[in-house]
Amino acid sequence: MCGIIGYVGRENSERPLEVAREALARLQYRGYDSAGIVVANELGLSFAKRAGKLAALEEQLAAHPLPLASAAIGHTRWATHGGPTDRNAHPHMSQDGSVAVVHNGILENHALLRQELIEAGVEFQSETDTEVAAHLIARAHAAIGDLAQAMRSVARRLEGAFTLLAVAADNPHLVVGARRTSPLVVGLGEGENFLGSDVAAFIARTDQALELGQDQVVTITPESVTVTDFDGRAVEPRRFTVDWDASAAVKGGFPTFMDKEIHDQPNAVRDTLLGRVSRAGRMQLDELRIDESLLRAVDKIVVIACGTASYAGQVAKYAIEHWCRIPVEVELAHEFRYRDPVVDQQTLVVAISQSGETMDTIMAIRHAREQGAKVVAVVNTMGSTIARESDAALYTHAGPEVAVASTKAFLAQIAATYLLGLYLAEARGTMFPDEVRSVMRELDAVPAKIQRVIDGEAAIRRLASEMKDATSVLFLGRHVGYPVAMEGALKLKELAYIHAEGFAAGELKHGPIALIDQGQPVFVVVPSPRGRDVLHDKVLSNIQEVRARGARTLVVAEEGDRAAAAHADTVFWVPRTPTLLAPLVSVVPLQIFACALASAKGLDVDQPRNLAKSVTVE
Ligand code: G6P
Repeated sequence: MCGIIGYVGRENSERPLEVAREALARLQYRGYDSAGIVVANELGLSFAKRAGKLAALEEQLAAHPLPLASAAIGHTRWATHGGPTDRNAHPHMSQDGSVAVVHNGILENHALLRQELIEAGVEFQSETDTEVAAHLIARAHAAIGDLAQAMRSVARRLEGAFTLLAVAADNPHLVVGARRTSPLVVGLGEGENFLGSDVAAFIARTDQALELGQDQVVTITPESVTVTDFDGRAVEPRRFTVDWDASAAVKGGFPTFMDKEIHDQPNAVRDTLLGRVSRAGRMQLDELRIDESLLRAVDKIVVIACGTASYAGQVAKYAIEHWCRIPVEVELAHEFRYRDPVVDQQTLVVAISQSGETMDTIMAIRHAREQGAKVVAVVNTMGSTIARESDAALYTHAGPEVAVASTKAFLAQIAATYLLGLYLAEARGTMFPDEVRSVMRELDAVPAKIQRVIDGEAAIRRLASEMKDATSVLFLGRHVGYPVAMEGALKLKELAYIHAEGFAAGELKHGPIALIDQGQPVFVVVPSPRGRDVLHDKVLSNIQEVRARGARTLVVAEEGDRAAAAHADTVFWVPRTPTLLAPLVSVVPLQIFACALASAKGLDVDQPRNLAKSVTVE
């Protein structure tokens, strides 16, 4: 939540403003309630900020351009404290205009600090928690004369989660940042440096980056990056290269990022699978730094995730239990964290996250590690907190995902958890190497199958436009089709604001069937007739049960499954795929349907109301 950019270069130019505008455009997926930029030059600080999407800020900048400058900080907001108004937009200025601040996170002790500042005569301009930081840093800076030291002294007083960036009017050649729990990475340029809430902020400018740790303060100047802890002790940050292609973060001719990302899916899966089998035919997961003997001793896997990533975990459960014979529990991170979960040294926790910054998931893995569990992160964003704080990281190679609703990252997460399952099965001896290789061959064939589903998208789009006035849509699935049904429903809720529910088809008779009346649209994800026949037949019975009660049945079935087609009002064919791998193809029509229906309703597909891509507050 909240996108942040910081920039400093050698000379006064238009570049700081350009870099900030470009970064905010790339970071909009982190929040789009308001946006703002402040630039610094010898004459002081100048800012522009506006409620609404970035276009509103752009309009203001066109009408009132900001001056040439050597540094800038910028922010795109997802409101927590204080509504999305011009006044509450970041940056926040200190009363004397000497310091400007942008912030991501929540300052939990802001009320107390606000009271203290009011008593000292400060007049607040906004309802945000952030504004206290602007005043506190300005006062400390006035007293100490050093922005980094001022930041450290204030950071020590703040409670909660924060990334803060500050610039001061008296030194336009540096930007200072602080992080506790919320994300912040450094981009290294030539004669210029960057700070970003994630690497997407600066990937168009540099692929060299530094990870910052918990409770650290960073100072960037055009020629240097200095990192310390909150007490001022020097820290050596870890350098990494960002392997994302900057062009992946533009729409490339598609009407929306989501359309583009749906079309990127064959590549996202292919790239995630790439290079995972050694010459000797053994599974290899380079980033998996956990000793094999520990993996052999694991007696339970707990998958922790939120939203779409949790459905990837639900799919993984079926595959990993089948291949590895280890019980797998899938937990929503926020539910896991605040009960008393049973995890110990024999538990392997798998945290799945596109952003690597979901606060609920971060808190859950910290808790799991405190109980002695080992944590493997399945993440898409390099340098992210979850990757850094886990014992091992298995990267999905989906590239930057910009649309708020996840698509390609979801498929890449499923593919990565299959890899993890196969790796564990091999390490634990529950599958023979040739069985593992046979599944890998099937997996390698999946990207082309996803492409075939995408090639047939016109029929799905037609149905979506026809159904744009639907007020409720149900989704049914069994076995791995169940999480697919839930993901199909989530996509429709997120994008089209239609009430949608995903059910386990077997549960139908225990309640949901009461929802069925004349014309109720019901998507049904049908398992392969070649897999476990019994599953297929049971789902066909479920289709008949809802159809007999007037439902309109929209069926996702394997090519050639005439029996399924016989009970469908509309069929979406997907290529033959082994049952456990089928979610990689069967979810695609549901993604296209939700995206097309939202477009047909004229909604903002990439930035649905009230949502943020990366939920960095609990
Ligand atoms: C938000 C996004 C979802 C995403 C979830 C988990 O709710 O809107 O699309 O699935 O967060 O995000 P993560 O980055 O941890 O996968």
